[in-house]
Amino acid sequence: MDLQKMVPPYRIKVVEPIPFLTTEERRRALTEAGYNPFNLRADQITIDLLSDSGTGATSSAQEAAAALGDESYAGARSWFRFRDEVHDLTGYSHILPVHQGRAGERILFTSLLKPGQICISNTHFDTTHANVKLVGAEPRDLPCPAAADLDSPDPFKGNIDLDALEGILTGPEGHRVGLVLMTITNNGLGAQPVSMANLTAVRDLCRRHGVPFFLDGARFAENAWLVSQRESAYRDWTPRQVATAAFQLADGCVVSLKKDGLSAIGGFIGLRDDALHAACEANLIATEGFSTYGGLAGHDLERLAQGLREVVDPAYLRARAASTARLARLINDAGVDTIQPAGIHALYLNAGRLLPHLSPHEFPGHSLGCQLYLDGGIRCAELGSLYLGSMDDQHRLVTPAPFELVRLAIPRRVYTDTHFEYVAAVLADIAKDPERVRGYRIVSSPHLLRHFKVRLAPVEATGTAKSQGVRFTAVGNGKG
Ligand SMILES: Cc1ncc(COP(=O)(O)O)c(C=O)c1O
Repeated sequence: MDLQKMVPPYRIKVVEPIPFLTTEERRRALTEAGYNPFNLRADQITIDLLSDSGTGATSSAQEAAAALGDESYAGARSWFRFRDEVHDLTGYSHILPVHQGRAGERILFTSLLKPGQICISNTHFDTTHANVKLVGAEPRDLPCPAAADLDSPDPFKGNIDLDALEGILTGPEGHRVGLVLMTITNNGLGAQPVSMANLTAVRDLCRRHGVPFFLDGARFAENAWLVSQRESAYRDWTPRQVATAAFQLADGCVVSLKKDGLSAIGGFIGLRDDALHAACEANLIATEGFSTYGGLAGHDLERLAQGLREVVDPAYLRARAASTARLARLINDAGVDTIQPAGIHALYLNAGRLLPHLSPHEFPGHSLGCQLYLDGGIRCAELGSLYLGSMDDQHRLVTPAPFELVRLAIPRRVYTDTHFEYVAAVLADIAKDPERVRGYRIVSSPHLLRHFKVRLAPVEATGTAKSQGVRFTAVGNGKG
């Protein structure tokens, strides 16, 4: 590859120190956090890969724009700059600002979905899933069959299963479908992109059956980049052209701008329909703020308007994709499998495969995440049975998740390849002796949104040391 093309199109002007704790300090910190990385303090973390949401670095141009923020209650200059930028990008006639994606979801679903209706998606993000349920509707995921094979190199594993979608639309439940929402890229399924061919087919099916078709466009630019790289019909298109074409296929969108808005906060709803806009606007004013700020400050709107220009820069997207792909190669070379092919905003480690000595009841994904913190101060998120499995009233795992994964989310413009070499080196050390990784059991847990507040403890060693390590048995979680 042409090396110059992999170089990020910026240099670093403002930096923030990162903490390096001793092994003993990390051990104490994790114990005090109840072995839940969400309870750690940011100043106890060396490399924070918990989320790519709101964690990116802004540019000097964004900060200069922020200084021009107009904080007028209504009709601020900053609003018009933001609105025009979003309108040019998406083509939607109505734009409503919101403080973040889930606020947009709540407002849209409250206005669009009725109790008992079905919302179909390639995969709902967790807050999206929750907001569909909160209005009494039923979220249903129809990922394409290729997504079930973590190792397959299929370029568009984020697609929806078109046959299954058509089956529901033409079947006895067809009249209950109130919305089809396509998440681009598919965060719940390995950051995999959705092809334009798939989006076009969804648009056609929805039109034929009179069902609204929306995008969850949190990573619209990254999806557009992957389309321009992997879908031959779009090879000569710029990412911005692809993104605009995607928005144009849909009736509207809900977008968290904490990702591809290159800002700490923000979002918007894009709509064509006048009546739906009026309903959403009334809800927005009552719950978020007036329709020219929607819970955002003028300086936020300015940063976002500038960020939306920077995020579709091919040089930026190419360098970001190359950096994630390079980290994936380092990790794979170290003997740790990741969902293939590498996406852009995150890598998903196959903890179940790396730690076969741990059963799903011992939460291999969580165990690997804790080990990354203990060994290297790296924070990440489990996407396995702790997060997705179903539990009984005593918090015992009843149905494990289909895969035991760990997500390494990559903040935008924050870490260099050297930071990622460090992450890969820590993982490589774990991969050399995986049996030293201990399992965990739940000590206490809320019933809703478990992963944020659950507290755990390491499973006690009860067995004799095996030749390669120690076998652990869960205490008090019903496992034999
Ligand atoms: C695909 C997707 N949709 C919606 C959201 C919700 O956005 P927010 O965190 O801004 O509420 C997220 C957040 O990570 C996301 O990844």
